[in-house]
Amino acid sequence: MVFKRVGIVGSGIMGAGIAEVAAAHGHEVVLRSRSQSSADATIAKLEKSLDRQVEKERCTREERDEVLGRVSVTTELDSLSDVDVVIESIVEDMTAKRHLFTELDRVCDDGVVFATNTSTLPVVELAMETDRPDRVCGIHFFNPAPVMSLVEVVRPITASDETISVALSFAQACGKEAVEVKDRAGFVVNALLFPYLNDAVRLLEQGVATKEGIDTAMKGGCGFPMGPFALLDLVGLDTSVAILDALYAEYREAHYAPAPLLRRMVAAEQLGRKSGQGFYNYR
Ligand SMILES: NC(=O)c1ccc[n+]([C@@H]2O[C@H](COP(=O)([O-])OP(=O)(O)OC[C@H]3O[C@@H](n4cnc5c(N)ncnc54)[C@H](O)[C@@H]3O)[C@@H](O)[C@H]2O)c1
Repeated sequence: MVFKRVGIVGSGIMGAGIAEVAAAHGHEVVLRSRSQSSADATIAKLEKSLDRQVEKERCTREERDEVLGRVSVTTELDSLSDVDVVIESIVEDMTAKRHLFTELDRVCDDGVVFATNTSTLPVVELAMETDRPDRVCGIHFFNPAPVMSLVEVVRPITASDETISVALSFAQACGKEAVEVKDRAGFVVNALLFPYLNDAVRLLEQGVATKEGIDTAMKGGCGFPMGPFALLDLVGLDTSVAILDALYAEYREAHYAPAPLLRRMVAAEQLGRKSGQGFYNYR
């Protein structure tokens, strides 16, 4: 299947990353941001990321310009009316996502497939906000989207086989390896990963080791490319708490309940890399 135009909603860490992946694989991308300033910031971020790739000789200057030329930004949701597929990647908040799906259903042509990049929230509930529940699924990229090879394609009980097949083709057309998963909180990766990250924060709270010590231990002892605190900072602590809350809401198992320190850090706006301060300082 050929994807002529891809719509992306949300210009945070993941929206910007997915836009880069899709454009790098030859797709025209329309990225919708709520404000012109964040739309401009997304383009600046994309330019910086592509410049780095030119420096590392992973792409030529001409290729960089072509990729940039395929991305347009807009503040109007209506600009996504005739894309082939929309990927929603706004804040991990059910109320905000529900509202967005209602709006997307109003402005997009009947044939458009809607995908959410949610990490944990029930995709079926977003599908039921629309008059096309059969055309809604999850396409869950990983962070950083241009680097990580996996995509989880999430099948809510409402999705048609055709929609899942579109999602699988899209993942492939973005150079990703897709695994089809059921619509359960955390799918596969986050259902396994987040109890571990949460337990690392508990170990820190118990004073078993320093954060640097725990990160060093998990890199050297398990061969992980980064330790749990570096990873939490990369994901974003607000997103991490939202993911743990959704896992806890679904399963009611104590190990999913966010460690108290995580919530305190979010309250203090220590969100990780995106705010400049998390477990580590990035300023
Ligand atoms: N961070 C990760 O590692 C990661 C990985 C995979 C999937 N995800 C998922 O991707 C989605 C986006 O996460 P992110 O890390 O890019 O977050 P982020 O905080 O970097 O960006 C969130 C974006 O949502 C926008 N937003 C906030 N409130 C909104 C509202 N009410 N309506 C519309 N837009 C709103 C913000 O302006 C921002 O552009 C979430 O569903 C998250 O679970 C995140």
